[in-house]
Amino acid sequence: MTLNREEIVKANIQLHTKLSTVYNETEPHFYPENQDVVRNILLQLKKETQGNKLLDIGCGTGFILNLSHDIFTEVCGIDATKAMLNRVDTKNGKIKLFEGLAEELPFDNESFDVITGYSFLHHLFEVKDVVKESFRVLKKGGKAYFDLEPNKDFWLEIKSIKDMQANQFSALIQREIDSVKSTAERIEKEHGIAKEIFHKAEYIKDYKHGIDPNDFKTKAKEIGFSQVKVEYYWYPGQGNVIREQSKETADMFDQLLKNLLPNSRYIYKYLRFILSK
Ligand SMILES: C[S@@+](CC[C@H](N)C(=O)[O-])C[C@H]1O[C@@H](n2cnc3c(N)ncnc32)[C@H](O)[C@@H]1O
Repeated sequence: MTLNREEIVKANIQLHTKLSTVYNETEPHFYPENQDVVRNILLQLKKETQGNKLLDIGCGTGFILNLSHDIFTEVCGIDATKAMLNRVDTKNGKIKLFEGLAEELPFDNESFDVITGYSFLHHLFEVKDVVKESFRVLKKGGKAYFDLEPNKDFWLEIKSIKDMQANQFSALIQREIDSVKSTAERIEKEHGIAKEIFHKAEYIKDYKHGIDPNDFKTKAKEIGFSQVKVEYYWYPGQGNVIREQSKETADMFDQLLKNLLPNSRYIYKYLRFILSK
């Protein structure tokens, strides 16, 4: 099947219009402990750029906007789905919203100090187009931060083993396999969104198996970013270790796995990128 950008955007608008009313309450990235992690990254970006203006692309209901409006002087958000933008809390008067596409940002060259995109790149038809637009609207010395992106090394591995005989995996791996098989079905049942729409809206994850960190790095450098930092994070079972043992124990395993990179790259579910212009 050949898809194009218009179809992917249309599927995103359909999916996120339906999800908008329950989005903040159902997405795990809104958990307070994750908000603390992201807020610290935003504070670090402020410190490193000494900038005042932040743009969040694919801002949705305002996850990043809420965490950054008291750090930066001016905070803008753009999203293709009006129903998501309608849920952004703009009471503080500092947040400006735009309905539009990340591939065609309605801003002048070099107008922002920081660009962010959270849980967003894998919803696109082509990541490169948006990284290019981000580079264009970013000031020299500015930084772009993209987070909660599916690590292709991990998801390709899970997809490649998903049809093997049952019962030969641990409960942890089986859970990941089941999530590949059943997430679209669950969304269809709970929210009445056809499976095909969900898959199209998650185009890079469901059709391309995630983002290849090395490919992303190469493309971002070709576009002109001088530095691209890639961080792998969250191994299956990390939540269990935190709950059943302690955060310190989970961090200790994490450090061990990080010391084993790049060999441990198949273990981590998510990627975070920090790019410098
Ligand atoms: C998973 S949500 C993430 C929302 C928010 N960043 C968050 O972390 O809660 C992805 C968002 O990207 C938006 N989106 C998808 N494709 C887009 C595009 N091409 N241009 C602008 N927004 C887009 C969707 O409408 C949706 O609100």
